[in-house]
Order: sequence, then structure tokens, then C-alpha cells
Amino acid sequence: MKSCVFIGGGNMASCIVSGLSNIHTDEYRITVCDPNQTKLDILKEKYNVEICLSNNKAVKHADLLILAVKPQSIRGVINEVKSFVKPSTVIISVAAGVKTSSIKSWLEKSNVIVRAMPNTPSAVLCGATGLYANPETSEKTKNQVKKIFDALGYSCWVDDEKDINAVIALAGSSPAYFFKIFEIMQGIGQELGLDEKKAFELLIQTFIGSSKMIRKMENTPTQLREQVTSPGGTTERALNVFNKRNLESTLREAMHNAYERAEEMSEDFSV
Ligand SMILES: NC(=O)c1ccc[n+]([C@@H]2O[C@H](COP(=O)([O-])OP(=O)(O)OC[C@H]3O[C@@H](n4cnc5c(N)ncnc54)[C@H](OP(=O)(O)O)[C@@H]3O)[C@@H](O)[C@H]2O)c1
Repeated sequence: MKSCVFIGGGNMASCIVSGLSNIHTDEYRITVCDPNQTKLDILKEKYNVEICLSNNKAVKHADLLILAVKPQSIRGVINEVKSFVKPSTVIISVAAGVKTSSIKSWLEKSNVIVRAMPNTPSAVLCGATGLYANPETSEKTKNQVKKIFDALGYSCWVDDEKDINAVIALAGSSPAYFFKIFEIMQGIGQELGLDEKKAFELLIQTFIGSSKMIRKMENTPTQLREQVTSPGGTTERALNVFNKRNLESTLREAMHNAYERAEEMSEDFSV
């Protein structure tokens, strides 16, 4: 059994642990480190993981070390644990905007370093993860890492580390875009006369159903949209508003801003 140690037991770690606990129970012994005992107790209770208040103690035997603290805490955590990390430990950072070169220089060792950019639907095994590995990483290790994130949904490797910033804008941040759209649409459904539960159920079913239709890939999203849009009908009237208010330019600006913020963070945290 391999030892998989998480440093940081917050939102992202919980999502990954939740996904992993469904699948890899026999393959990995999971330990989560966090300064907050209550958070650790909840994770232990929910997922039967080992918990530890001491990062140094936990990392000593780690085969995989998942850094799941805020980007600004990564350097401090690495300074704290670097002398306890085995040369064979594979380091996986989920921190947005912290480059592998920065991690390598703080670590002062030549461990394999992987950047993973998962998203929160990993908690329900529908996550999407972009992965980047530094050039020293063997195919065997890449396969091992990909297997973990594939188990949480879908994952893919990017060849250029900069593309992790595109993954952030497209997938890492985008559950929040969908949640925001859901909040707004449910509210408008209620404004138009439906009660809260019916608005919720009708909308969630429409989100799931629309996603499944795209997933089937029998028709492109453009064709699917055109099939719903009868000339002179209700959908056309609604979509005309999207065009008039330039939904495309709003989304483009939002995603470019997310990308630029990721680039800024990479600069802020680079050495
Ligand atoms: N949330 C997302 O959708 C998402 C998606 C992709 C990637 N990420 C990345 O995932 C990372 C974690 O984000 P998050 O949303 O999970 O943040 P979070 O909920 O704040 O979790 C971070 C956890 O780490 C703990 N921590 C802080 N310093 C520590 C230390 N020295 N040793 C051990 N634990 C420590 C924090 O405890 P305290 O709260 O007590 O400080 C907190 O429980 C970030 O780098 C983010 O960029 C997040």
C-alpha cells in the first residue's frame, strides 16, 4: 500500500479525498495534515483517513505528497518539510499559480514535481483535472498520478506549464461560473412564478440533461442549440438578448481575467 499524504485539509483536499476514498481504498493509505483538529476529525469520520497535526511526521514516509494549501502558504510548508521528504517522494501541488521551478528551488532537491489543477466536482467523481509534470518525470510516475486524477473524473496532461493557467480559467474556476448561473436562473424561475423546489428541480435536470446531450457527441453544441431554437419562438427571443448584451464577450473577458490572474500569481510566487 502506498502512502499518500495531504498537507492542508481544506476544500480541495476534501474533494480529492472524497473521490479517492470511493476508489483507491486498498491502493493508498491516506493521511491528511492540517492545523485545525476539528477539520481533521471531520475528514477522519467521513473518509476513514489517518490524520496528523505534524507535517514533518507525516511526510517522512510519503510516497505521494499532495500540497493542498493556499498558494501563499506553499513556500512556508516546503521550508518546513523539505528535510523530511524522501528523494523518491512524488510531489503533487494543486496550488494555483505556483510554478514547478519555484517548488524545486524551495525544496532544494530533485524530486519529481507534478502540478495538478483539479476542480471541486472531483468530490462527486465528475472532476476535470489538468496535469503538468516536470521533465524529469518518468512515464511510470505519470501513469500513477494520472490514475489518481482519472479516478476523480477526467484528467489530461498539458505539455507546457503555462497551459495550466488555461486549465484554471476553463475548468478550475468554472464550477463557480456554473454555480453562479444556476443561482441566477433559479432566482429568475421563482420571480416568474415557480416555487423554490420546482425551480431547482427543473433547472438541475436541465443542466444534467444538456450536459449529457453534449457528452453523447452525436451533435455539436451548436447543432443542439439550433434544434431548440425555432424561428420566432421563445428560445430565439431569449438568445437574441444574449447576443444583444454580448454574452460571448462577457465570458471571454471573465475567462481571460482568470487566466491573467493565474499568470500574475505565477509571477508573484516565482523565485
Ligand atoms: N478550491 C478550488 O476549487 C481549487 C481548485 C483547484 C486548485 N485549488 C488549490 O487548492 C489549494 C487549496 O485551496 P482550498 O480551496 O482547499 O483552500 P482551503 O480550504 O483554505 O484549504 C487549505 C487548508 O490548508 C490548511 N493549512 C494552512 N497552512 C497549513 C500548514 N502549514 N500545514 C498544513 N495545513 C495548512 C488551512 O488551514 P487554515 O484554514 O487553518 O489556515 C486549510 O485548512 C490552493 O492552493 C488552491 O489554489 C483550489
